[in-house]
This record gives sequence, structure tokens and C-alpha cells, in this order.
Amino acid sequence: MNKMSIVGAQWGDEGKGKVVNYFSEKFEWIVRFSGGANAGHTIYYKGRKYVNHMLPSITPRSDSKGFLGAGMVLDLEKLVDELNVLENDFPGISSRFYIDLETFLVLPWHKEEDEIIENMRKKPIGTTRRGIGPAYTDKVSREGIKLYYLFDERLLEERLDNIYYLKKSQYGEKLKSNKDDVIEYLLNARNNLEKLKVNYASAVEMGKVFRSTSVLFEGAQGVLLDLDFGTYPFVTSSSCMAHGVSSVGFSTFELDEVYGVLKAYTTRVGEGPFPTEIFGDEASKIRKLGNEFGATTGRPRRIGWLDLPALRYAKIRSGLTGLVITKADVLNGIDKIKICTHYEVNGKLKDTPSSSYDFFVAKPIYIELDGWTDTNEINFLKYLSFIQEEVGVDIDYISYGPKTEEMCSKNHLVLNIHRK
Ligand code: IMP
Repeated sequence: MNKMSIVGAQWGDEGKGKVVNYFSEKFEWIVRFSGGANAGHTIYYKGRKYVNHMLPSITPRSDSKGFLGAGMVLDLEKLVDELNVLENDFPGISSRFYIDLETFLVLPWHKEEDEIIENMRKKPIGTTRRGIGPAYTDKVSREGIKLYYLFDERLLEERLDNIYYLKKSQYGEKLKSNKDDVIEYLLNARNNLEKLKVNYASAVEMGKVFRSTSVLFEGAQGVLLDLDFGTYPFVTSSSCMAHGVSSVGFSTFELDEVYGVLKAYTTRVGEGPFPTEIFGDEASKIRKLGNEFGATTGRPRRIGWLDLPALRYAKIRSGLTGLVITKADVLNGIDKIKICTHYEVNGKLKDTPSSSYDFFVAKPIYIELDGWTDTNEINFLKYLSFIQEEVGVDIDYISYGPKTEEMCSKNHLVLNIHRK
């Protein structure tokens, strides 16, 4: 049975939610394996827009189910809000979601810490301030709270007692949340989830289920924001690559396909290196046409030309077997389109960064291609052919608008162009 993973091939916001939603009808399970409410996956269904930060992008059209895996950090308040929005339009849909009991929780003090630490940094990272870094930090330093603690109040109380003592010693009066508020918040969220009839499970129980059926693993953010191999320290705190499926008990060797989603240009939110960044009118025009404002924070995204060295790096790091290009229509009408083919790194020409260090010192080398007015034109096809030959992976699908149905296979596009 087919196992596919979809990951971002740039700095996130490539349109993964829409792409996952497009494929989701063909899969029994959609599994999110990393990140938290820092992600913002936008999908359209029957003309309505849904922005999910926590929920896997299942489609209401089929009876596919969603699993929230232990590599995530759960913001229970956001989760309940998102389920309520969906319940309103699709009653009963919450019972199609399953959550791994091993998953760590984002607690109210994690958001406060995110704020405090960001404000103290000489060079802020530009985090989403959703408490992601502090929640993952607590997981690693063994001060985290797992979902299953909510079902053993004695254990919850004991753990929080310990953790709160440490937090208070660290932050003193700066920390406003206290232990009792956190317990109340958690038990309230638990009761709301129970009312919504969400299911709890573990990857141990789900292993057999997943192996006997089709599963789409939905990544969050993008390879260049990966904690280990992204542009550290300007990264998120989790794995953004296909190998993140290990958190739900899978190996990348079990994946039939790993699709990397890329925009026809590049964007980034927050601080950090961005070799092909552009400014001024050129950037404003693309930002406006592409509605490049964060789905989570509303921040204007930084804009740049397509960056092939970064894509080659993403291909190698995440083992991409195919590409999906999104927002191709945004470049319609631009006369000449630049593509970065190489980096100059400390005087040396490179087609692929050797390590994430190279992104910090890279000088981009560009070529120019003729633009197109419509994606059904030969110049657009030439753009696609150039990218896939240079990166060494086929672009199999093209998305040319925000709606789920505004997507086609490359073969379809080629036939359309030849028919004209
Ligand atoms: P954090 O994940 O909130 O800690 O933020 C760390 C960095 O990752 C910041 O630069 C964020 O803007 C970026 N980031 C986190 N999630 C996303 C996302 O879903 N899309 C794009 N950038 C993101």
C-alpha cells in the first residue's frame, strides 16, 4: 500500500496544505509527524478557506482519517478551536482524528518563554511566538508534559509541581502562568477534546494499521528550517524532513515517494540567511500577487528568486523523489525571470551547498529566462524543464491557484500546451 511523504523544499509556506489536500482523497490516513501551531496549512473546500495549524490536511470529501504523531508539539487550545470550526461545517469530523498519547504539549508558559527569550536575544530568530522552541527544549531537557498525563491527574500534578518549581527559579516574576492555571487549562482542553470525540492512540497500536493501508505523511515547515540541517540557528526546533516519519515508527525506506513542494520563487519569514532575496518594487509586486503574508502570524514574507542550490541541498538532505511546484501563476506577466543556478562561496563556485554554513556567505549567480503570461505557455514549460534538469528530480505536479482543484500533473500541462 502506498506510503508517501510531502515535505517543504524551501523555507516553509510552499503550499503543502493544499498539495496534501489534493492527494488526500487517495489515502486512508494523513499523518502529521512534526512541528506544532507554528505551521499554517491552508486548504479550500467548497469555496471555504480553512487554515489549520495543528490538524493534518484530511479532506472532508472522502472518509480519510488524520493522525497527530509524537514528533509534534500539541497546542490543545488551537486544536480544540480548529476542530470546532470543522465541526460546524462537517458535524462528526472530529472522530476522524487520532492523537498519539506520547505527544508533548505546548503549555501556556512555553508561549511566555518564547516571548521573553526572543525579546532578550541580541539577534532575534523571528519565531512565531507559539512556544515551539521552549516546548521542544523541555522535551529534550526532560521537563515536558505528555498527552497521556492528562488521564492521570495525580501524575500530572506531581510532574507540574516539579517543572513549575524549575520554571519559577529560572524566570521569577517574569513568568505569569502558574501551576494551577496550567492544570485548569489542561483539564479544560481534555474535557473539550472528549466532547468532540477525538480518538487517542499510540504509534505502537497504529503500526499495523498504517502498514496495511495507504498513508500520506504530511511534513511541516521546510527542509531549510530543519533543526539539524537548516540555516541554524534561524530554524525551527523540529525535523522538517521526510526522516521525521521515524516519530511515528516508520523508516524512510518504507516510503514509496517523497515529494518536495517548492514555490516558483522563494519566500522566508523570520530572520536568517536568504541568498536570493530581492527588495523594493520587484519584491512588493510578488508579495502582493502571491499574498505572501504568514498564515500563522500575518507577517509579510521575504521574497526571492528561485534558488536551485538550495533545492539541490533539499533534494539530497531529504531524499526527494519528485517535486510539486506551486504558485506558478504568481509570476505570470513578469518579462524576465531570474533563477539562481550556483553560489559563490568564499571565492569558490558551487552548485550545491556543502553544509548549511554556505547559505550564510553565498553570493548567488543568476541566469535569466523569458517569462510567460499564462502557465499554459511554452515558456513556462521551459522554466519547469530547466528546474528539473538542474535539480535532477522531476516536477510531477503543478499548482496554479489556491483551490485544491487548481492543480494538474505535468503530463496534463504538456498535452494542453501541445494541443494549442
Ligand atoms: P518557531 O518555529 O516559531 O520557533 O520559529 C522559528 C523560525 O521558523 C522562524 O523564522 C519562523 O518564522 C519559522 N517558521 C516556523 N514555522 C513556519 C512555517 O510554518 N512556515 C514558515 N516559517 C516558519
